[in-house]
Amino acid sequence: MAAKEIEVTGSGQSRLFVTGSTGELGRLVIGELLKRIPPGRIVAGVRSPDHEVAKQFVAQGIEIRVADYAQPETLVKAFQGIDRLLLISSSADDGRLAQHENVINAAKAAKVGLLAYTSLLHADTSALGISEDHRRTEAILAASGVPHVLLRHGWYMENHVHLIPTALQHEVVLGCAGEGRFSTASRGDFAEAAAVVLTTEGQAGRIYELAGDESYTLADFAAAISAAAGRPVAYRDMPEADYKRMLIDMKLPEVVAELIADADTGASRGELEDGAQQLSALIGRPTAAWRQAVERASTAGDGQ
Ligand SMILES: NC(=O)c1ccc[n+]([C@@H]2O[C@H](COP(=O)([O-])OP(=O)(O)OC[C@H]3O[C@@H](n4cnc5c(N)ncnc54)[C@H](OP(=O)(O)O)[C@@H]3O)[C@@H](O)[C@H]2O)c1
Repeated sequence: MAAKEIEVTGSGQSRLFVTGSTGELGRLVIGELLKRIPPGRIVAGVRSPDHEVAKQFVAQGIEIRVADYAQPETLVKAFQGIDRLLLISSSADDGRLAQHENVINAAKAAKVGLLAYTSLLHADTSALGISEDHRRTEAILAASGVPHVLLRHGWYMENHVHLIPTALQHEVVLGCAGEGRFSTASRGDFAEAAAVVLTTEGQAGRIYELAGDESYTLADFAAAISAAAGRPVAYRDMPEADYKRMLIDMKLPEVVAELIADADTGASRGELEDGAQQLSALIGRPTAAWRQAVERASTAGDGQ
């Protein structure tokens, strides 16, 4: 993984663009880029310049450009003069693939030199419901001729950490992952990996399977919450349909309930586990430890 840092000095050097920069992952990527290159080399793609985060970027000397995945004309304009682009997968429930295709077409028209795409862990073989859009986006990228690199993300640690207040309240973690293991990683680590890839040479054609160094079952997760909080918390495994129904009853939109339950079932088949440790190799340090994240959230006072 001997990648050479890109030229970070001088004017007129390569410009890096981050789509979805106002989102949770996007703003962390911008933060990691700022540690590596001057703000004048970074362009943040936003849907609205009035977004509070967009205003913060401007105050930091970062150019913002409107880049709406659903409005191709904004994309072609936004990508002018851009050498490297991070396409953060869309959070849209519908039309996600078409949005990604818009971005890829615009990147091609603007002759972007490298497009990094945040795909899904083992997207080529995954049977998760969300894998289809990622697999098809990867295929569109391959057919486009745009030089690209795939950042295949595993499950975000925050997806589980957010469950902790409810788990503490009811003294139970519910799910349908069985004994399946999750090699989760934090958004911060995924963001750092993206920044490393965007600022180093020799990335075109690479595929990274990015996941945390350690894996755990939901029973391990419940036991860690229990140990940290000093209260009983157990894991209760449910049939997928019951778990999905329960999530809907908890007022989650059906599409989100479907995604969460489907991911658990995928984990039970081993699809969210990965022991290759490519993420820590890329960022040059161990990934954030899930137990520490659980301890922090379990002792933070929420859910008491
Ligand atoms: N593997 C996992 O466990 C996992 C978990 C969560 C998310 N993800 C994926 O990672 C992506 C980023 O996650 P996140 O936590 O940063 O999500 P997030 O906080 O919801 O941010 C989504 C970003 O996408 C932008 N966006 C939405 N629709 C857009 C459009 N039509 N055109 C341009 N930008 C648009 C949003 O802009 P606004 O700020 O204007 O709304 C926001 O900046 C998600 O979209 C999802 O695909 C994966």
